[in-house]
Amino acid sequence: MTEAALGAAFTEVFGRAPEGGWAAPGRVNLIGEHTDYNDGFVMPFALPHTTRAAVARRDDGRLRLHSAATGIGAGGVVELDVARLAPGATEGWARYPAAVLWTLREAGHPVGGADIHYTSTVPVGGGLSSSAALQVVTALALTELYGVEPTRQELALLCQRSENVYVGAPVGVMDQIASACCTEGHALHLDVRSMAQRQVPFDLAAEGLRLLVVDTRVKHAHADGAYGELRAGCEAAAAALGLPALRDVAYGDLDAALAALPDDRLRRLTRHIVTENRRVEEVIALLDAGRTADIGPVLTAGHVSLRDDFRISCAELDVVVDTALAEGALGARMTGGGFGGSAIVLLEESAEERIGSAIDRALPQSRRFTTVPGPGAHRLG
Ligand code: GLA
Repeated sequence: MTEAALGAAFTEVFGRAPEGGWAAPGRVNLIGEHTDYNDGFVMPFALPHTTRAAVARRDDGRLRLHSAATGIGAGGVVELDVARLAPGATEGWARYPAAVLWTLREAGHPVGGADIHYTSTVPVGGGLSSSAALQVVTALALTELYGVEPTRQELALLCQRSENVYVGAPVGVMDQIASACCTEGHALHLDVRSMAQRQVPFDLAAEGLRLLVVDTRVKHAHADGAYGELRAGCEAAAAALGLPALRDVAYGDLDAALAALPDDRLRRLTRHIVTENRRVEEVIALLDAGRTADIGPVLTAGHVSLRDDFRISCAELDVVVDTALAEGALGARMTGGGFGGSAIVLLEESAEERIGSAIDRALPQSRRFTTVPGPGAHRLG
């Protein structure tokens, strides 16, 4: 949707012109899964798919939300009283923007009511961070309109807090950082402990490569509860080792750490996190050396670890990965939280049609697209 069309849709809903338009992308994670809440390393990049918001301030303390985005509540206007926003008090998709406004105000920022019209091209429920895109576009628009100037990192942390406290999901910060901080043509290496960021050039086309994103279009019901249990398990393992976080287990000390842990589940969780942090470092070293095709086996090893040690893959994700590899993909893995959602497949340009068609046959319900790293959140126009 063009900026003019976004503005026109706002006017149709709210009967006046918006003050501006903003966009925030979804993401895929190249490598570094479930490492964010273990103080470790992640490496997402922004999708060209965005959630867009046309926004105008209101001075009567009301927040009015409307969405034309399939899956995030196409329908009527949701109207909320800013003074009455409270964790747990909002239902459905509107709790994400409500959470952002509440969190900004809780943090002392002078942000008030607004009319907001959303549209989105981020597949909802595909594990591609449609909710982080919704949070970040809302936070960016409200802070800019109300003259608050957080850094992008602060903005992302506020959005994460809004999801943790208001929505009640114990997520890490990767998705919000990806949407707020990624840059076009790069994957973002983030050290979650220090919050140090590095934009790593990720130019697939220059090397005759492609990256497919395959949305399995399944999300298994236990996904939400399982995330909290995995996080708690990782924290229990770190505590059993007397460490602040599993990040503090050096790769060379993994065997000793495993021997010191009391049960198999904690050992499996620990092995995934420690080897996954190592895989992020391997991928960075390969990209820095201009050896993009060689990251394939590292991505695949990440999938095996998520499937066998972290145990968060599912039949549909495994079908996509196995089919892609059997047809000659360079590497493939699930991406995101797990139990459904999407997989990524690295392949040579010449193999794209063959491998893509094989995936279509193996999992007919899936939807796929080829992608490159897009820009992070920005104001339109
Ligand atoms: C979800 C969470 C992230 C991260 C990933 C797994 O996307 O929102 O914080 O933990 O799962 O890497």
